[in-house]
Amino acid sequence: MTALDLRDLTGTTAVVTGAASGIGAAVSRRAATLGMRLVLADFDGAGLDRVAAELSDAGTEVLAVRCDVTRAADVEHLAAATAERFGAVRLLVNNAGIESTGRLWELEPDHFDRVLGVNVGGVFHGVRAFVPRMLAAGTPATVVTTASIGAVTTMPAQAAYVASKHAALALTECLALELAESPITVAALLPGPVDTAIYANAGADGPAGDAVRRRMLTFLRERGVTPDAAAEALFDGLAAGEFWIYTDRERADVLLRQRADRLTGHLPPA
Ligand SMILES: NC(=O)c1ccc[n+]([C@@H]2O[C@H](COP(=O)([O-])OP(=O)(O)OC[C@H]3O[C@@H](n4cnc5c(N)ncnc54)[C@H](O)[C@@H]3O)[C@@H](O)[C@H]2O)c1
Repeated sequence: MTALDLRDLTGTTAVVTGAASGIGAAVSRRAATLGMRLVLADFDGAGLDRVAAELSDAGTEVLAVRCDVTRAADVEHLAAATAERFGAVRLLVNNAGIESTGRLWELEPDHFDRVLGVNVGGVFHGVRAFVPRMLAAGTPATVVTTASIGAVTTMPAQAAYVASKHAALALTECLALELAESPITVAALLPGPVDTAIYANAGADGPAGDAVRRRMLTFLRERGVTPDAAAEALFDGLAAGEFWIYTDRERADVLLRQRADRLTGHLPPA
């Protein structure tokens, strides 16, 4: 992947979905410190207003757009509003995502559909609305998917989330291949635990889902890196020209090796 000179981002435009909280808010703040103009998208209007006010008070040009990434029309409106206000997009971060806990057979169908709709559909709609405009502009641009370390691992009682992140990553890898001959580069952020509100907002079905959700709330608080550290890892990874960007490279390498060993050793999930 082409390395990004972060100094070139000054005066260009970043669009971040899920920007009202956690990693999305931190990525937006980091982009603002690099001198970028920000388009913040989220369906949490109050959170969006808070982050938008904070950034514009600090002198950043901001457009906040209320948007549900599961809805193609909302994301198309986001892309059109961005083009009208700022012109070409330099950086798109398809970051909005929701957690889900519960054994697969205990999940409510609506819950399952929502997780796939946000975590996979949101990425698809983002690509569909923005990439044609980027190609038409013909200038360098970067598309990032916030996947998860869960995109390359598996675990019980989080099947919908894990499946959605595997799908989001696969989609992102395919996109990178499709755009290989274009000025658009593609990257995947695969965070390990980050101390955000994601489990506080998570859907949880059944007693196993509740237990995992409570355990993960504590785990992220005690062991998660800060959202700022995740944002830093993203921009460091882009500056290094990486496709796979991790918040904890060492831990990721252990998990990747374990998965590769299971696949190549024809071993069952463990
Ligand atoms: N926190 C972690 O440990 C962790 C680890 C790996 C991956 N991730 C991924 O990072 C991304 C950001 O998560 P976070 O931890 O910052 O969580 P968060 O809950 O703090 O932020 C997620 C944001 O997405 C928004 N959002 C949810 N559904 C939306 C929709 N349909 N349309 C628009 N916005 C929507 C929420 O309102 C929220 O502001 C997610 O994709 C998540 O899966 C997080």
